[in-house]
This record gives sequence, structure tokens and C-alpha cells, in this order.
Amino acid sequence: MPELTTEAQLLCDSSALEECGDAVTFEVLEWRRPASAFALRFDGEVVAYLNLCAHVPSEMDWQPGKFWDQDRRFIICSVHGALYDPPNGHCVSGPCVGKHLIKLTVQERDQQVYWYPSDRVQPAFLSGGQPL
Ligand code: FES
Repeated sequence: MPELTTEAQLLCDSSALEECGDAVTFEVLEWRRPASAFALRFDGEVVAYLNLCAHVPSEMDWQPGKFWDQDRRFIICSVHGALYDPPNGHCVSGPCVGKHLIKLTVQERDQQVYWYPSDRVQPAFLSGGQPL
């Protein structure tokens, strides 16, 4: 069984994430099982979460990378309409108020965006593209 890594994982160029624009989605392992995650930019900051609604364990985007509500103010789950506050992932409306998305640590430096694995969320691929 491979060791867990805590090394920064290159996600994308900063320019790929426009303010309240489409998300960049990426494959991860959650507790060693395939899952997906997404990153988007709100108020200038990049945030990333597992693509997993806090209501029912379902992916949230109605089309790949489409996570915004109509006003581009909240992250919306397309299944039953839960709204999440982008900076912290807290559900502010819908069937899972009081719950929150699972946040990934991200960092932006030198015009690139990185995410940091945790015990829970690991990269699905090594940097060379091989599956772990
Ligand atoms: S599964 Fe997301 S709101 Fe119900």
C-alpha cells in the first residue's frame, strides 16, 4: 500500500481560475477510494473542496465544472439546491444547513495553484501520471 504524501500537488495555472468562473475539477482518493474535487476563485482567493454534497453523498455539478448559482455568489449543489458559502464551504441554504463541504488546502504561488494532500484526501495520480 503506497505511503501517504503531504507534498504540494500542482493543480493548474492561476489564469485557469477566473473570478467566479468555472471550476477546475480533479481526481483524488478519499480514504483511498476514487473521488473528485474542484477548485474555484471567489473574492480573489482560490478555494478547493471535495465534489461531495453534505446532504447526500453525491457529486454537485450539473455540468462538469459548473458550481455557481445564478448570481455567482454561492456554490450550488445541482441535486437539491443546497447553497454553500465559497470561502468556508458552510451550507447556508437547503437541506444541509449547518453542515459543510470538505475543504482542501490550496496555495497559489508563482502564478500556479497547488493543493495539499491530507490523511483523508490523497492524489489519484503520481506526478508522472501513473495511478497510485
Ligand atoms: S444532494 Fe446536494 S442538496 Fe441534496
